[in-house]
Amino acid sequence: TSDTNRELIGSLIVDVPDFPKPGVVFKDITPLLASPEGFQTAVDELVASAPEGIDVVVGMEARGFIFAAPVALALGAGFVPVRKPGKLPGETISHSFELEYGSETLTMHRNAITPGARVLVVDDVLATGGTIGATAELLKAMGAELVHVSVVMELSFLHGRERLVEMGIDKCTALV
Ligand code: PRP
Repeated sequence: TSDTNRELIGSLIVDVPDFPKPGVVFKDITPLLASPEGFQTAVDELVASAPEGIDVVVGMEARGFIFAAPVALALGAGFVPVRKPGKLPGETISHSFELEYGSETLTMHRNAITPGARVLVVDDVLATGGTIGATAELLKAMGAELVHVSVVMELSFLHGRERLVEMGIDKCTALV
């Protein structure tokens, strides 16, 4: 990512203090999405971060979908959604993980990806790494090959990247 593009993307992600609860600084991507130049630049950079030969782009509900779908089209790859429980009509596999308070479960269609397929995971934010970690577990259960993770923003103070490395995922691009 060039410095100019990094600055453009960073300037369009706005800190919102005390949302959704006191003490949390929310990263609002809606200004980035509202900017045709900013959104296009972010998608182009995510596409550029992808290794050759991606078969499937996996995106996570809900904000991940916004970036993963155009990246899939640009790469000529399929798009497969990771969803919260109760949304997918077919047979699913699920993986649960702990949040700061409580837990979260993510699901995918059991037959969504052919074993051995090369997968790029795209999300908006890497925070604690719980979401991407759970997605990696789902992909492993399916026999898919997670070859790269690309996110728009990384919150490095939450150490998500270290969590992914502990899981053996060391190929991760964050635009900002
Ligand atoms: C946010 C964000 C990432 C995830 C990152 O999703 O879109 O998917 O959190 O956090 P983590 O690295 O700690 O798992 P959220 O659950 O807020 O859902 P949304 O996309 O539906 O808003």
